[in-house]
Amino acid sequence: MAKALVLGGVTGLLGQALTRVLTERGWQVETLSRADGNLLEMSFLEDRLGQAGADAVFNAVAWTQVDDAEDHPEEALLINRTLPDALARVLKALGRGHLVHFSTDFVFSGPHQHPWREDDAPNPASVYGRTKLAGEEAVLRVLPERSCVLRTAWLFGPGRKNFVDVILAACRKRDAISVVHDQFGSPTYSLDLAQWSAELAEKGATGIWHAVNSGQASWCELASEAIALTAGPCRLEPIASSQWPQKAQRPVYSVLDTGKLSEFLGKKPRPWPQALREYLFSEYLSGTQSGKEGIH
Ligand SMILES: NC(=O)c1ccc[n+]([C@@H]2O[C@H](COP(=O)([O-])OP(=O)(O)OC[C@H]3O[C@@H](n4cnc5c(N)ncnc54)[C@H](OP(=O)(O)O)[C@@H]3O)[C@@H](O)[C@H]2O)c1
Repeated sequence: MAKALVLGGVTGLLGQALTRVLTERGWQVETLSRADGNLLEMSFLEDRLGQAGADAVFNAVAWTQVDDAEDHPEEALLINRTLPDALARVLKALGRGHLVHFSTDFVFSGPHQHPWREDDAPNPASVYGRTKLAGEEAVLRVLPERSCVLRTAWLFGPGRKNFVDVILAACRKRDAISVVHDQFGSPTYSLDLAQWSAELAEKGATGIWHAVNSGQASWCELASEAIALTAGPCRLEPIASSQWPQKAQRPVYSVLDTGKLSEFLGKKPRPWPQALREYLFSEYLSGTQSGKEGIH
């Protein structure tokens, strides 16, 4: 039985999906979280990774508060670059274990004429995006032969409050909600991402991968689909980003190309509206959503 160590596997949106999916696929799963000790302490990491003897380490720990990162660039850098760099170094020294690390569409800014490919030049517009880019570069520099970086985007799924949950909660309280309609991205189901991550790890994949559901949407289109599927009672008002000022600059277009992942899987990742239906009908409406804060 293959062994996995999932960082962030108890509380993170993606971490919980990884813990669940890897277990279902027959992996023996251990988690490593804040409650176990200081992940930024090298000797602690060396001990825990050494003891775990994992075939694959999945790093779903990140500083994901995009706006807060603007005010805390050093702390964000510690979590988003120093930690993955340390993980790669420890695995290199151990001489075993594949590192599956996660990054973001926010390494791009746009505008762009077509979905971003893995070999397009990144150009992050925010502290969050810059620290995540530094993290992916560190992992691939230190452990190129045994690591992969999965860039994902606009996650929804069970276990931790996300954009879809926030919209549906707001919709229950208000007659109308305003949602940005001039930023476009790739909505993605955390459980689908966890499946692709497991498959990539099982095949020892290396390099950068864009790992998102097919299709694209604006935030307003994603909200609209979620409200329609749940027969929500409120009206949606599409607005421009300028009407919803945020501390960090967001990409106007960060849709990711899924060609490389499709070739690997032997099929296109399913379209995001189909994945959203599964989330809403199998998880959200059946009440398994726990609703912890932490939207990206
Ligand atoms: N969510 C999105 O829409 C999105 C989009 C693009 C890319 N991504 C990427 O996908 C990955 C997973 O994101 P996510 O949405 O699952 O994030 P998340 O739900 O915010 O989870 C982040 C995890 O990191 C842990 N963490 C943060 N700081 C820590 C620290 N100092 N020590 C120990 N643990 C710490 C959190 O633990 P606590 O719960 O204890 O704080 C939590 O388990 C990240 O690499 C992120 O950049 C996410």
